[in-house]
Amino acid sequence: MRTCSKAKEKNKKSSFFIPFFIQGRNQSFLIISIIMVAITMVFTLSCERVEKPDEAAFMDEEEDLSIPELPYENKEIFRMHMNSLDDSYESLEESIDRQDWEGIRTFAMRMKSSSPVLFTGKRKDELPQDYVLLDTRFHFHTLALVEASEAREMVKLNLEFDNVKEICDDCHVKYKKKDS
Ligand code: HEC
Repeated sequence: MRTCSKAKEKNKKSSFFIPFFIQGRNQSFLIISIIMVAITMVFTLSCERVEKPDEAAFMDEEEDLSIPELPYENKEIFRMHMNSLDDSYESLEESIDRQDWEGIRTFAMRMKSSSPVLFTGKRKDELPQDYVLLDTRFHFHTLALVEASEAREMVKLNLEFDNVKEICDDCHVKYKKKDS
């Protein structure tokens, strides 16, 4: 056994440390084996490289699905404000259905005075940039709602009402957890 393994070791040494052009043709099988191993390794590595972006894309998707937690000063107060915004929104919708311009103006003004940024109790620079942008869009379109209600322009009012609803939904998709 000993001599056998020693002989093997010797053989290995001569195979690896003597350049192939000295070893002669009978060593060519070794060169072929090395080339095949190299090809297999390159193939395996390239396969891994192909898989990696897929994996990364999958992980990004997972991250997109997980909703970021906003740094609320007080979540209960935030929810209370959201619910009263929801009340104004529903009252405005009812007033539009009834074509009650006084009601429309009152609830449009109430929505305009709401602010998703202020609701959090945090400063703009403490909140995600995208959240602040949604808040800006919200202010822009609730102001347009008030203007339409003062001018009594039903077409513009309906258009802006849809715009505001879209912003509520956009923000909820991004920041409202499914279970809340
Ligand atoms: C800029 C972001 C943003 C906008 C715009 C926004 N919301 Fe929300 N809203 C939230 C977040 C975040 C929550 C989830 C709070 C939580 O974790 O419970 C929420 C929760 C709510 C809730 C549930 C409150 C509760 O008791 O759990 C209601 C109702 C609601 N929003 C109504 C509205 C309506 C109606 C509008 C549009 C007129 C609107 N929101 C616009 C961010 C927004």
